[in-house]
Amino acid sequence: MIKIAILGFGVVGSGVYEIIRKNEKNITKKTGGQQVDIKYILDLRDFPDHEEQGLFTKSYDDILHDPEVSIVVEVMGGLTPAYEYSKAALAAGKNVITSNKELVAEHGTELMALAKEQNVNYLFEASVGGGIPIIRPLNQCLAANEIEEIYGILNGTTNYILTKMVTEGADFAGALSEAQRLGYAERNPEADVEGYDACRKIAILASLATGKYVNWRFVPTEGITKITRSDVAFAEKFDAVIKLIGFAKIAEDGMVNIRVCPMVISKTHQLSDVNDVFNAILVKGDSIGDVMFYGRGAGKLPTASAVVADIIDAAKHIHINKFITWKKSEKDIMADPGAAVMRFFVRADSEAVIKDFAGAEDLGHEGGEWFFVTDEMKEADFVAALDGRGSFIRVLS
Ligand code: HSE
Repeated sequence: MIKIAILGFGVVGSGVYEIIRKNEKNITKKTGGQQVDIKYILDLRDFPDHEEQGLFTKSYDDILHDPEVSIVVEVMGGLTPAYEYSKAALAAGKNVITSNKELVAEHGTELMALAKEQNVNYLFEASVGGGIPIIRPLNQCLAANEIEEIYGILNGTTNYILTKMVTEGADFAGALSEAQRLGYAERNPEADVEGYDACRKIAILASLATGKYVNWRFVPTEGITKITRSDVAFAEKFDAVIKLIGFAKIAEDGMVNIRVCPMVISKTHQLSDVNDVFNAILVKGDSIGDVMFYGRGAGKLPTASAVVADIIDAAKHIHINKFITWKKSEKDIMADPGAAVMRFFVRADSEAVIKDFAGAEDLGHEGGEWFFVTDEMKEADFVAALDGRGSFIRVLS
């Protein structure tokens, strides 16, 4: 029998409990006959209506000092005390499973190294893409490839909001509160709408793809709060939609061009049809070419599905480190974001602006704002030419 402890009984923690109870027999089969038994649930809150009161504890020490517990499931979110708890569990020779992208993006290097040292595992499939398998595919199935590009829709809440704005003309605030009600949003919605959540996720993917730690702090990040209904309407005239995209392009010399920002995406592109809470991640490898991963990127059971899969994997490798890792980079691997070449969708303050962009495609004007799309140009040159006379959204090519 494999005894586990769940840290945090929120949306994901309660989903993990539910799946383990619901699919007990199947899970036992998948671990090769070992039953996964929940011994503790740690939460500061009381759950007086829960049918298994005996599982709840408020003391982490109970868990840490219980030699029977071999897997700790950290689904608390946030850095503190999740970091201290995870580190202590690994140091005590326990496996740790997490959905906590903030923690993986900040302390993953150290926690994976500690897991290796202790011959246990620190697994985090649920930290990116909710229920979509992406960490394991990058680390195992695509391991033969040099990864050249990873990009996609990495945040369910913002995709839900943008979808409602495009298809129903919904306003931003209404769509956000609906996403919160459905359990998609982070505790602090700023993390979703300002792109911080997607930033942590693309930094994790880029770190895995390069084998070198990509520090999320250096990922230029913009959210969706400045997208207007006019942007959506004029993108439509360009036969395109607007999505929040995280991308990482890895050059042959190892330099990484990485960013999170809203992007204008042609309706002919696969990502344009990825709607609601769905996420999609495209990976380009030198041998396999393009692979796309698609599914529910947030929500209780989809995220818990990835967590439980990691529990099963850890149960099958209790004292075998699976060597999921990246190393601290000795040199700066961040490419100059200003050197990126692409087209730009512009909302300009005056009609005169368009004349400064040779080859621009005029989309029309509304309420004192002029919309156009530039030809391909270097970002630094574009920003200099626009000179603050409007706002812009990058166009995905
Ligand atoms: N708030 C996140 C999202 C949850 O909306 O995608 C899953 O990471």
